[in-house]
Amino acid sequence: MRHLLSIEDLGAAGINEILDLSDTFVEVSGRSIPKVPALRGKTVAWLFYEDSTRTRLSFETAAKRLSADTMNFGVSSSSVNKGEGLRDTVETITAMGVDAIVVRHASPGVPWQITRWTDACVINAGDGWHQHPTQALLDCYTLRQHFDSLEGRHIAIVGDIKHSRVARSDLLAFTMLGAEVTLVAPQTLLPPSLEGWPAKTSHDIDAVLPSADVVYLLRMQRERMHEALLPSLREYRAGYGLTLDRCALLADHALVMHPGPMNRGVEIDPEVADLDRSVVVEQVANGVAVRMAVLYLLLGSGVELTGGAR
Ligand code: CP
Repeated sequence: MRHLLSIEDLGAAGINEILDLSDTFVEVSGRSIPKVPALRGKTVAWLFYEDSTRTRLSFETAAKRLSADTMNFGVSSSSVNKGEGLRDTVETITAMGVDAIVVRHASPGVPWQITRWTDACVINAGDGWHQHPTQALLDCYTLRQHFDSLEGRHIAIVGDIKHSRVARSDLLAFTMLGAEVTLVAPQTLLPPSLEGWPAKTSHDIDAVLPSADVVYLLRMQRERMHEALLPSLREYRAGYGLTLDRCALLADHALVMHPGPMNRGVEIDPEVADLDRSVVVEQVANGVAVRMAVLYLLLGSGVELTGGAR
């Protein structure tokens, strides 16, 4: 596989291959000098048309720890502001010589389009509500550190499922690895059709929490909402927010996850985010090693990423 566009393209074997390799890069990241020469001479460019803290910085850290050169492209300070279109921008960056383009864009499908305009590897760092495959990989890696296997584990994904690329990617990854997923949201925050989604749904978080091994919280994606889907954030918190009281419904071993950025006091109470069972910081830390593994497999190893249908 030349690109990483969707988690579905990897299949369970491809996901496990990346998770296995991530162990190596966790070890590298723990060294006093966390750097290896694996991608010396390679250049990785960022093309972020949407804001990011975690994904962009962890890809940049990953590339630098692998000794790759990086080409930073800030949309707000680029010729996009002079009217340059996506295709011309991609072809311009490609002409300078890049080996990989990491792209985030508000429009679903843009990473696929870009593969037609460049010979570089393309990595999807989030396309609208559609896919965020490296988020799913780092989430699976984090879960693997806590559970021997996801087989038969129950994961509740709670929040704005409708607009969430994380929900779509994680649902596919978790179920490919054997977990059972329940999507928990008010009707207005679920997609109009869930046909083909391998998940149960519920509007009652209190009924779902006692059987959950993991509660995965999502923020309201207000930048993608074009209508009023909620009476108020206060009412959302009352109905679906993970409060300390609701945490008491969880099994002792159950984990709390969130892809970030968190809106403390809405989908997650501040005290809950700081509990020992919250692995949000581990997710961020693991993002570096997992993205090192992705860059290494696509650019450096000469080993093909295992692709496969589910
Ligand atoms: N989880 C995530 O994608 O965070 P950023 O938007 O900060 O990259």
